[in-house]
Amino acid sequence: MVVYKTSTFLNSGNRLELLDNKKSKFNVEWEKRMYTVNENDEILIDGYLVKDIAKEFGTPVYIYSKSQLLQNIRTLKDAVSLNFPNHRIQYAVKANTNPHILEIVRNEGLGADCSSPVEAIISKRLEFPPEKSTYTGNFESMSDFKIAVDSGYILNLDDYHRLDDVLSIGRPEVLSFRINPGIGRGGFEGIVTGGNDAKFGIPYEKVREAYKLALDRGFTRFGIHMMTGSNILEPFYFAEITQKLLYIIEEHLLDLGIKFEFINIGGGLGIPYTSQEQPLDVNQTFKLVSDVFHKKVAELNIGQPALMIEPGRYIAGNIGALISEVTHVKESYRNYLGIDAGMSALIRPALYKAYHEIIINGRKVGGETPYRICGPICENSDIHPVERYFQNPQRGDLAVIKNAGGYSFVMASNYNNRQRPPEVLIDENGPRLIRKGDTVEDVFDTVVDFQL
Ligand code: LLP
Repeated sequence: MVVYKTSTFLNSGNRLELLDNKKSKFNVEWEKRMYTVNENDEILIDGYLVKDIAKEFGTPVYIYSKSQLLQNIRTLKDAVSLNFPNHRIQYAVKANTNPHILEIVRNEGLGADCSSPVEAIISKRLEFPPEKSTYTGNFESMSDFKIAVDSGYILNLDDYHRLDDVLSIGRPEVLSFRINPGIGRGGFEGIVTGGNDAKFGIPYEKVREAYKLALDRGFTRFGIHMMTGSNILEPFYFAEITQKLLYIIEEHLLDLGIKFEFINIGGGLGIPYTSQEQPLDVNQTFKLVSDVFHKKVAELNIGQPALMIEPGRYIAGNIGALISEVTHVKESYRNYLGIDAGMSALIRPALYKAYHEIIINGRKVGGETPYRICGPICENSDIHPVERYFQNPQRGDLAVIKNAGGYSFVMASNYNNRQRPPEVLIDENGPRLIRKGDTVEDVFDTVVDFQL
């Protein structure tokens, strides 16, 4: 297949972005391997025409790029290992749990960060190594704990008051506590997971009690953890929270004499969703973290802990696109461009007002008509934020919703009794189905004494 490279930057048709060519270009760099357009403004993903993919697999359909996935993992591994000879990277499985994606991640040598029993079961099944895989729950049921302990993964406990619950089931070899360092930040409010409004972690003032209890209960192998928020694009922030955690250790834990096997600063590495944002500079990020980490760790005599991180979005976020068909263009009090992927297929816009770039196959961006892009679900929240500008979009056009690799299919539902879309992976052999879409029968499959 002929691939036409183009210098025309792709953007979402959002007027704001059209004003800012320089930063838009940056975004193309970030995704340069994944999206191209040909002379007819047709979009290709990894060299495959979107219209051919849609014809083969139907719409809506999630498409993932293996080459983008590998690029993300390797960029991150290089940045971390350059600054931390002793490190562990765990992929936050929750971001995209398709086993075919997980297999690629595991083959690249990453561990798994699991947040639910099934995530632990699937990660074990795919043989993610126990020494660099973690179970981090919150408000766990006893059966959650049972699977967490049985997995043999590091247990990262959200509240030390649950330690005896865990011990009534079994004894994890390595224990860490999730600390709330009193600060948090996120791309938007719903994804801030630290600070005094967060349900997660142990208040840092109580950290001594937590580790004291663990020592009393005979634990000997320890780590320490925090996760203060998601989708952060400022390199300095990661150094700031690392410093805070090290100060907490200094102030509250030193006299316990614990030697930490790892210091886990969580995930949170962001990706640009708009053309105004620049990709996170991971080299700078880990250089800054390294500056505070190595100096302080040497000072504190707390062993030689590995730096541990557990990114989800950075690994999986930009590897995916959701391809959807335009069902109807409606002129009402405003102009609506309806597509067949609604909030049941991708809930982030409705749930968080999260912005996803959208491009339309064969259509130039621009023009005078603002469109609200919406899905077919019976809710007015089934809509993408920010009006977009396209030239003459028509029913039957294909809309490509970008950055739908992480927290996208995994959050899909059967709301309005819609079927969740299939997932397709493009690897060295081209596009292939890696998960079937739901059938109508699947939607009612679990209803008792009923057949459709
Ligand atoms: N570790 C823990 C303990 C977490 O809770 C999370 C994400 C991660 C790691 C991975 O964070 P990341 O590197 O992806 O920022 N549904 C939201 C995102 C929720 C993130 C929850 N925790 C969204 O669609 O943006």
